Amino acid sequence: MTSPDLLNLSGRVALVTGAGQGVGRQIAITLAEFGAHVIVNDFDLDRAERVAEAITSAGYLARPAQADVGDFDQVHRMFSEHGLGPVSIVVNNAGNAGAGPVSTRAALPFWEQEPQDWRRFFHVNLDGVMNVTRCGLAQMVPHGWGRVVTIISDAARVGEINGMEAYSGAKAGAAGFTRAMARLGGRYGVTANCIALGATRTPAIEAQIQNEAFAKKVLSNYIVRRFGEPSDAANAVLFLASDASSYITGQTIPVNGGYSLAL
Ligand SMILES: NC(=O)c1ccc[n+]([C@@H]2O[C@H](COP(=O)([O-])OP(=O)(O)OC[C@H]3O[C@@H](n4cnc5c(N)ncnc54)[C@H](O)[C@@H]3O)[C@@H](O)[C@H]2O)c1
Repeated sequence: MTSPDLLNLSGRVALVTGAGQGVGRQIAITLAEFGAHVIVNDFDLDRAERVAEAITSAGYLARPAQADVGDFDQVHRMFSEHGLGPVSIVVNNAGNAGAGPVSTRAALPFWEQEPQDWRRFFHVNLDGVMNVTRCGLAQMVPHGWGRVVTIISDAARVGEINGMEAYSGAKAGAAGFTRAMARLGGRYGVTANCIALGATRTPAIEAQIQNEAFAKKVLSNYIVRRFGEPSDAANAVLFLASDASSYITGQTIPVNGGYSLAL
């Protein structure tokens, strides 16, 4: 089927995690512009409220929801209490790209780091994805339609060092888990895919890319010589959240200016 309505999300309830700023904020705005009623999650309530307010004052539908995605009880409560009806689109966006070291140890080679240096990467990037997908599927399966979109990173595909070892592993874990959800969800009309981002201009990495020498070095690895914008990610999420992508599941789509090339 081809129709201009394929991207229309009217009547769908979408939950976007970590939507208080950066990529998640733009995903929430874009899904709302295409008709979805959006639950704007963040563990920072002020941020979530500001984004939800911006969406509603533009005439679209949104509601803020505070929860730390790494905490199952908080996530379960958020899904029980949002009051908008069943969620049919989950975007696992919350993550901690560019997180600085919690201690000087985390800047050391991995063999000198300790578990407290890497647990936080698994908390949000893997536990968070599992908690939110678990609660989202429970609302999608009975209705026979659903979309799970998980934001990973090229770090998961190529492996990054210098404090990014656990981040790389957690994102790769999220991708493997999302593929399993594709296999599980197929018979219930639920697709599950990942988007792998390259360096994207958000508050998470703004300070780093202000450094001209660093920015030049990073950009020399990108075929399209610019940093990604949140809208580059949001446009791909819109496609994967819509009926336009109903025959695509279990895949990872790189949105990375050609930093790494997928087969
Ligand atoms: N910016 C990049 O260059 C880049 C590159 C590759 C992948 N990514 C991924 O893209 C996604 C979005 O990144 P961003 O750059 O917009 O990040 P960001 O730090 O600008 O925004 C992340 C938002 O998530 C929220 N958040 C963090 N932990 C949370 C938790 N446990 N529960 C709920 N909310 C939480 C934060 O409060 C923040 O508002 C992340 O998954 C990140 O790993 C980003």
